[in-house]
Amino acid sequence: MEDPIYFDYAATTPVRPEVVDAMLPYLGASFGNPSSPHRFGRSARAGLEQARREIAEAVGAEPNQVIFTSGGTEADNLAVIGTALAARNKGRRMAAVTASTEHKAILAAAHAVVHMGGEEVMLPTDGHGLVDLDALARAVEARPAVVSIMWVNNEIGVVQPTQVIAQICGEAEVPFHTDAVQAFGKVPVSLSETPCTLVSLSGHKIGAPKGIGALIVRGKGIVEALVHGGGQQFGIRPGTENVAGAVAMGCAARLAAQEQASEAGRLRELRDELAAGLRGGVPDIVIHAEKVERAPHILSTSVPRTDGQALLMHLDLAGIAASGGSACTTGSVDPSHVLAALGVPRDLAQGTVRLSLGHDTTRAHVERVIAVFPAIVQKVRDLAVVLGRA
Ligand SMILES: Cc1ncc(COP(=O)(O)O)c(C=O)c1O
Repeated sequence: MEDPIYFDYAATTPVRPEVVDAMLPYLGASFGNPSSPHRFGRSARAGLEQARREIAEAVGAEPNQVIFTSGGTEADNLAVIGTALAARNKGRRMAAVTASTEHKAILAAAHAVVHMGGEEVMLPTDGHGLVDLDALARAVEARPAVVSIMWVNNEIGVVQPTQVIAQICGEAEVPFHTDAVQAFGKVPVSLSETPCTLVSLSGHKIGAPKGIGALIVRGKGIVEALVHGGGQQFGIRPGTENVAGAVAMGCAARLAAQEQASEAGRLRELRDELAAGLRGGVPDIVIHAEKVERAPHILSTSVPRTDGQALLMHLDLAGIAASGGSACTTGSVDPSHVLAALGVPRDLAQGTVRLSLGHDTTRAHVERVIAVFPAIVQKVRDLAVVLGRA
């Protein structure tokens, strides 16, 4: 059997060899606690501060605006709940404005704000997943604590008009948070051009290990800490820092920013070839958000009269690893909340396969998926007929 191939980079990525090399010293000789004043501590502190500089530079922020977290989920929670708590402490409205196509980390954090006595406001999206900007303009008039709209959607790849959203929020003096976990390294993320207040990043989507992320916080007193302890990370996220993880993320962020433009071009070409090839073999395949700007690494498809789980199982048997939507909801029988928000019929959403591309994806990989896909679809459709589901 041929080597298995990976088409699930939006779920996670392999750790890049350069990143392993960068982090290894911090699992060895430079093991110190970065808060210790002795030489071991100073060596760890130097690595941590270098990582802050690398991440800041990669997105156009300042090093002291980089708060390390345990990943994208924690960064999202800190942004949404932390701003709500800060607003409450200032006697302001404890409301989070977001959209129904957001990642579960944002939706669940907005629900948590409601449980704390605040409000959540859900903005509608159109059939491509783009947020309704008129509704946003109305929502910010009531001065919520935060607007949180993701830069790139993890299921369908749609790119939100982040710059316009930043402008609307800026004029209303409402903090704007964006979950850039899927955007960073794939589309240009420059905070000097797009002045977001808060930005979530995750290491494992860009070739660093799982369990490290960052929230960029641009301004003082914008977020309240969610965990309490020592004064590390300006008191916003206390706890001894994950130095090796931070160093890994710094290295991965530097590489991702350096390679963004060329990788985006390469992935877009491969993604479009993949889409055309799949459509050639399965003419009624639906490609989501095809008519709007999408990140280059995500191809979300639904195949009528099939079942996504069965398609994924056959793809896996053929040595191809893909996903049904987002990895976090894999295994759940409900069709994706994102496709539901887009108005995709439930039956069609049931036959969804997300193919996501990354650093090691090659044309040969794309050709292999195109070659096996029509027969897999036929098999799943035949089975549906036998089971009386078609
Ligand atoms: C858009 C988006 N936000 C947040 C997350 C959560 O990040 P992490 O896995 O680092 O907690 C993910 C990962 O699936 C994601 O795709």
